[in-house]
Amino acid sequence: MRGFAPRCEWELDPRQVLVGRRLAVGGFAEVFLGKYEGTVVAIKRLLTNDAATIERFVGEVRMLARLRHPNLILFMGYCTLPELCIVSEFMSKGSLYGVLHSPEARKQRAAAARKQEQQHSRGHPAEEQNAEDAEENAAAGNAAAAAAALAAAPSQEFLSLELAGTAAEQQQRRLEALEPKLQRLVAVAVARGMAYLHTRTPPILHLDLKSPNILVDERWRVKITDFGLSRARQRTFVSSSAQGGTPEWMAPEVLRCESVAEPADVYSYGVVLWELITGRAPWENYNPMQVVAMVGFRELQLPLPTSASEPFLLELCKRCLARDPAARPSFPQISALLDQHYGPPSWAAHATPLMPPTPRPALLAPAAAGAGAEAGSLRQAPAVIALPAPPAAAAAQQQQQDAEQPCRPVIQRLLLVLLLLLF
Ligand SMILES: Nc1ncnc2c1ncn2[C@@H]1O[C@H](COP(=O)(O)OP(=O)(O)O)[C@@H](O)[C@H]1O
Ligand SMILES: [Mg+2]
Repeated sequence: MRGFAPRCEWELDPRQVLVGRRLAVGGFAEVFLGKYEGTVVAIKRLLTNDAATIERFVGEVRMLARLRHPNLILFMGYCTLPELCIVSEFMSKGSLYGVLHSPEARKQRAAAARKQEQQHSRGHPAEEQNAEDAEENAAAGNAAAAAAALAAAPSQEFLSLELAGTAAEQQQRRLEALEPKLQRLVAVAVARGMAYLHTRTPPILHLDLKSPNILVDERWRVKITDFGLSRARQRTFVSSSAQGGTPEWMAPEVLRCESVAEPADVYSYGVVLWELITGRAPWENYNPMQVVAMVGFRELQLPLPTSASEPFLLELCKRCLARDPAARPSFPQISALLDQHYGPPSWAAHATPLMPPTPRPALLAPAAAGAGAEAGSLRQAPAVIALPAPPAAAAAQQQQQDAEQPCRPVIQRLLLVLLLLLF
């Protein structure tokens, strides 16, 4: 290989790409630490070279080359020789899944939290005794309830009980949980990245949003990666194939292989929020086929805790996991809600758009009955929570209005003609 002649601006000279240790193995590729022209990078190399995998690779490169957002992975280029690989910025903490669920990370968080609690609770022995008593009582009660639930087939109540666990387990989970500040940071970053994707023209659907595809660096910058299944939505819906994604994060409509649109990604985001809130991996006691059956066809849902360190995220998670895709908020709405709730930087309060936005009547329509009340702790942001009526209801409303005022456009036209004749 003498002179290297790139076929496009993104093709890199493989002689300048140094491959180091392996970082991780995904569903389609292995990822290595590397260096390109002196910069530390991640190199994603395909595991197989069959036609479907190559198609996925080409799709991913095309998609990555179009994306520019601080919460989406920075694509640096690709190589075709000696193998197909994608070069991107390196995210030192790896995936959010690893950060949340790896035993070492959990242990470290628990140790830090315990140390902090010990410092706080010195001088409050009574509290400790109360906690121990509560633990014993709850353990006895839970054991009886668990036995009763196990006798029946898995149900929503059983799943909730599973989440609750004994008081000791709950305490352990609380210690292992990600700090609330970091939960918020991840929720906001992912929503921003997704809002960017969904507001492209045409909108881009990720279709494989999950914690293993969310990366974190040493400064806690959070970026979405793995665009191998992403697609530009040219029509109202795209046809889905449940084979590509990971059932634990997939929306019920995707699991049923129905047509999908933006709400499918919102559901996956809801599962990521659930992981942040509970500190658990979704459906960890079930195999993928069971998840397909339970979520896609038996209408079971991830059990939601009754309380959380970030109640706002819990409320948002509930809405994102709605079975009806039309009832889920959109990413621009989610992003705006998070900004409103957690307070935008002070300059944003005085910012004005580069150009005044064109009014969009559909989005200003009053909320569907009950939506406001349902919002609960989201009340702080009533303007944005007032979601538009679902498309079917909005269309029916429009039809009714049209039926009630059938001659309005005709009268308007007649008046216009009269005016023109007069002048
Ligand atoms: N830029 C990166 N920096 C650090 N780790 C990465 C990077 N990209 C991917 N990884 C690690 O590799 C795993 C698989 O990468 P991914 O792009 O999702 O491949 P696949 O398409 O096979 O799922 C990720 O879950 C993450 O742990
Ligand atoms: Mg992946």
